[in-house]
Amino acid sequence: MSAARSRLSKLAAIGFGLLAVFAPQLLAAQSPVQVRSPAGDIVVTFSDDGGRAQYKIDFRGETIIAPSRLGMLFENQHGFDEGLSITATTIASRDETWEQPWGERRMVRDHHNELLVTFTSTSGPAREMQVRFRVFDDGVGFRYEIPKQRRLGKLNIIDELTEFAVQEKSMAWWIPSHGWNRYEYLYQTSDIADVSGAHTPITLRMPSGVHLSIHEAALVDYSGMSLKQFRPGRFKADLAPWSDGVLVKTKTPFVTPWRTIQIAPDAVGLLNSDLILNLNEPNTLGDVSWVKPGKYVGIWWGMHIREYLWGTDGVHGATTEETKRYIDFAAKYGFIGVLVEGWNIGWDGDWFNNGDVFSFTKAYPDFDLKAVTDYAREKGVRLIGHHETSGSVTNYENQLEDAFALYEALGVDKVKTGYVADGGNIKRIDEKGIVKYEWHDGQFMVDHHMRVVREAAKHKISVNPHEPVKDTGLRRTYPNWVTREGARGQEYNAWGDPPNPPEHTAILPFTRMLSGPMDFTPGIFDLEPNKRPPVNADMPRGDPRSRVETTLAKQLALYVVLYSPIQMAADLPENYEGNLAAFQFIVDVPVDWEESIALAGEIGDFVAYARKDRDSEDWYLGALTDEEARTLSLPLSFLEPAQTYVAEIYRDGVKANWKDNPYDMIIEQRDVVRGDILSLPLAPGGGAAIRLRIRSQ
Ligand code: NOJ
Ligand code: CA
Repeated sequence: MSAARSRLSKLAAIGFGLLAVFAPQLLAAQSPVQVRSPAGDIVVTFSDDGGRAQYKIDFRGETIIAPSRLGMLFENQHGFDEGLSITATTIASRDETWEQPWGERRMVRDHHNELLVTFTSTSGPAREMQVRFRVFDDGVGFRYEIPKQRRLGKLNIIDELTEFAVQEKSMAWWIPSHGWNRYEYLYQTSDIADVSGAHTPITLRMPSGVHLSIHEAALVDYSGMSLKQFRPGRFKADLAPWSDGVLVKTKTPFVTPWRTIQIAPDAVGLLNSDLILNLNEPNTLGDVSWVKPGKYVGIWWGMHIREYLWGTDGVHGATTEETKRYIDFAAKYGFIGVLVEGWNIGWDGDWFNNGDVFSFTKAYPDFDLKAVTDYAREKGVRLIGHHETSGSVTNYENQLEDAFALYEALGVDKVKTGYVADGGNIKRIDEKGIVKYEWHDGQFMVDHHMRVVREAAKHKISVNPHEPVKDTGLRRTYPNWVTREGARGQEYNAWGDPPNPPEHTAILPFTRMLSGPMDFTPGIFDLEPNKRPPVNADMPRGDPRSRVETTLAKQLALYVVLYSPIQMAADLPENYEGNLAAFQFIVDVPVDWEESIALAGEIGDFVAYARKDRDSEDWYLGALTDEEARTLSLPLSFLEPAQTYVAEIYRDGVKANWKDNPYDMIIEQRDVVRGDILSLPLAPGGGAAIRLRIRSQ
């Protein structure tokens, strides 16, 4: 057996390879070496020119990524920066379809060609680094695989040299990295020159119209990658450091997360890509029928609009009585859960800065956890648990097992977690009792989230972190990691300065949502809640300039456009009962899909999606626009032939606009068939939501 082949078998033995499926073929060591996507549009070229590991990507004859560096540096040990030579290359391919337990689509096709390149040191101590590239029709993923080797054992990564040299004249949609507000920034639309440091996914449009999104997949046991532009168009991996400055603490053998570049000829192409999921490992939890998608309501928006407080030092929201009112509402309209925030001891006073006092097992005296969960059970509803840490992670980890065991015993099967704390201010107490502050996306927190997800899985509980680490597709491997926040959500419309502008939800699908589901919490019906009279003179409402900058129809559209397997109906029950005609769409809309198709869109302007229900023949359509009115023409080519569908349409009225006339909405029914072109007028800040059901004969 050749050296490279025996090395591959070794990797397979430790779980890196999939030789049986791949049937890899060893090529002669050469430089440069190429691999193409299955349809041939994408070509990746590798070289060791000048002793440096480099790659380059072309799409339909255009250079998308100019020659860009690969490698990494270690503390006090020789790294992989120069003096490297390609000594082996192996190609393989795969074409298989796998099933998601829940998701935007049931079946996902993983079709790619793979190249594994081995770089060996030509000077200094003998060292070896492998880079595995997978080239799909919708983009490229690559990761480093550092085999176990005599001279490299335990190590600290002090720099990852990965570069992405994109075209200087591109446009970028991005949020800044290393900021106090984590991922909760408004997206910038700018020339690439204005991007200093950016979180991923970052989305780029090149002058030719080709769109790219750079991100990562399977972020496990490593630090999150953001990007730093250090020369015009030339981005470099920028890993979130530990509090001691080290980027990643690891030992050989190890693999890094996949660095991903999704590539599409147009903006919509990015939305129909499964590349991130395909690069994650299959489900490791076995039977996950206990992970239940569904819609929920909660004692939540009431705090954000100051109806009541999380703590008991004012009007307390999380009381037994109020929770029962929400449970009744949920049962009446078919919601599966009621989220209750502020139920546990620790919220009084300055909870933002006092995370150490949170108890995750003790309720406030006016919240009877047992009575509430018993009542919910009788009504066929579940309490959704809540663990806000305010960034005091050691305090949370110390209680983790007890907290999940308690919830499991009471039938709670979903928990929302929270990490409100300035970026980089996650409190960790080390073995010596010394307090350290870590980044939300550093290796410590990457590991923490995995601990929570695994512990939750032991108790058959699904998790929904807010202020999380970004999504990298780990829901495939851990299907109980159902959703997360990780961007500006609806809450900014209650108190944000500024609130989310109309273009925000026309940018999210092309940026944040490429990474995975988001708990945006749509469905606000009272669009100017801060104009309501205060419930209590001591609790004035927020600034009336903070409001929802959408029409009512657009709030409905969000259920289809912004994918999440758990979706909140975020407003107060009385606001829904005051408009049952519009609320009907929220009652009807599913959250788990057989298929999803992005129909149309331009970043920051508009977007339209069609999705098919997993449990019926119904299709749903959601479309929304930024501050501009526009009429979309959407071909209904996804419908079944020879069937007439009733389209139940919720759209903006002719005079609607988000600012002055947001409630003007038309609800109408129309018969449609496959092949019809639906003309859909959208108001400024508006949207449309449609249920398409087969007409019964
Ligand atoms: C911020 C979260 O995004 C929000 O949903 C939650 O209500 C508060 N933290 C309190 O946990
Ligand atoms: Ca938040």
